Amino acid sequence: IQNDYENLSLWAARYIASRIREFEPNENRPFVLGLPTGSSPLGTYAELIRLNREGYVSFANVVTFNMDEYVGLPRDHEQSYYTFMWKNFFNHIDIEKENVHILDGNAKDLEAECAAYEDAIAAFGGIELFLGGIGSDGHIAFNEPFSSLSSKTRVKSLTYDTKVMNSRFFDNDMNKVPSKALTVGVKTVTDSKEVIILVNGHAKARALQATIEGGVSQSWTCSALQLHPRAVIVCDEAACGEL
Ligand code: GLP
Repeated sequence: IQNDYENLSLWAARYIASRIREFEPNENRPFVLGLPTGSSPLGTYAELIRLNREGYVSFANVVTFNMDEYVGLPRDHEQSYYTFMWKNFFNHIDIEKENVHILDGNAKDLEAECAAYEDAIAAFGGIELFLGGIGSDGHIAFNEPFSSLSSKTRVKSLTYDTKVMNSRFFDNDMNKVPSKALTVGVKTVTDSKEVIILVNGHAKARALQATIEGGVSQSWTCSALQLHPRAVIVCDEAACGEL
C-alpha cells in the first residue's frame, strides 16, 4: 500500500525494472513482460521511461505481450490500445519493434488470431511478469464478470458498465465504444510466473475489497489471483477504503 498514485507508480516501475535487471541475460531467453493499457499504468510507464533514459534498465532483451485490444477499431485510431501503447510507452524506450506483441482486433479470423497469440506466448516459454490494472467491476484485462477463470485468449463482448466507463475516451458516447475486444484469458494471466496489479483511487475500492477479501469467484475475475503463488497488488490508500 502506497500513500498515493505517484508512489504506487514509482514502486511498480522500480520493481519491474529491478526484475528485468536481475534476469539473467540470455540470448535465447528474453524477459517476457505482459502489459496493460488504461490510466492506472500511465505513471508506471512514465517512470520506466525515465529509468530507461537514465540507463538503469534496458528493454533490449524484453519481449512484451499486451493484454487486450478492441475489435474493429482501426489500429491508428487514437483510442486503439496499439496507439496507446506506442504513444505512452514503446516510442520512448529502447525496445525492438518485433519484440512488441499486441492482439490485432482487425484480424480476418479473430479466433485464429487469439490462438496464435497463445502459441506465441508459449513459444517464448510463458510470461515472466504480467502487469495489470482492474476495472471497477474487478475485471482483469477484458475478462468481464462471469468470465471463466480458466479462460485463454479469446473474443469477449464488453459489458454495458465497461462501455459506459470507457465512453469517456469516445466523446462520452457509449455507442462509439466497440462492443467487443480480444483479451488474454484469466488463465493466461495466472499462468504467468508473477503478476503485479495496480489499483488506485476510491472508484476501485469495492473491486479491491472483493478481490482480496471475497472468495475466489468468476463474478470478480481479479480474485483468481488469490490462488497465484506470486501475485502482488500495488495500491494507494484511496483504493483501500473498503478493506
Ligand atoms: C480497461 C482495460 C483494463 C484496465 C481497465 C481499467 O477495461 N481493458 O485492462 O485494467 O480498463 O482502466 P483504468 O486503469 O483506466 O481504470
